[in-house]
Amino acid sequence: MSTNDIGIDPATPGDLPDLLRAFGQETYFRRQLTRQAEARGVLLVARQSTRVVGDVYLWLEPKEEPELEEAFPGVPLITHLEVVPDRRRRGIGSAIMGHIESRLTERGCKQVVLGLDPANAIARRFYETLGYLEWTQGALQTTKEIFLSSGGVRREEEVCHVFYKDLVSARLSVHAGDRP
Ligand SMILES: CC(C)(COP(=O)(O)OP(=O)(O)OC[C@H]1O[C@@H](n2cnc3c(N)ncnc32)[C@H](O)[C@@H]1OP(=O)(O)O)[C@@H](O)C(=O)NCCC(=O)NCCS
Repeated sequence: MSTNDIGIDPATPGDLPDLLRAFGQETYFRRQLTRQAEARGVLLVARQSTRVVGDVYLWLEPKEEPELEEAFPGVPLITHLEVVPDRRRRGIGSAIMGHIESRLTERGCKQVVLGLDPANAIARRFYETLGYLEWTQGALQTTKEIFLSSGGVRREEEVCHVFYKDLVSARLSVHAGDRP
């Protein structure tokens, strides 16, 4: 299925009503828009025609988990990738990830990293398909935030697995594969 009609751009406050229609989580999106306005990260929104179909937040601050920042200093962290349920498995998630990787490569970033709930087998499959590798130094103790419909936020301890991708070598291998 073609993903040529997908537009992926940094969110603006004007995107908020459509983001909330697609995903709810008002507290989360308001907070990330504020972070973006302070140049602490980038909230990307994917639209197909005019409908919001996906979002992702690129965390550019020092990571909250010290051991992750130590292992991946200054490496951008992909968080909160989500595609609306009725448009999944049509290449939208891949298009968003491709957009992020190109954006980061253009800015000279050599790696990108993300954390994954060990129970999320679909996301694991998705990231492995896109060439992400599991960090072998073990699981990470972290805090998950659950955004409640009441507007509140509940924090829960969780273990997450870390995946990363070397953007430079990913590019080189594509070029090597292009050779006749
Ligand atoms: C993970 C997620 C973003 C994937 O988005 P998507 O648009 O459905 O992904 P794509 O269509 O680009 O899938 C690319 C590949 O990933 C793998 N994949 C994706 N969904 C899969 C599924 N349900 N089962 C098995 N493999 C799957 C496949 O290899 C797929 O390629 P294929 O369709 O040609 O076989 C989406 O399932 C989602 O929003 N999940 C809920 C939120 C979440 O878990 N986010 C990740 C947080 S770390």
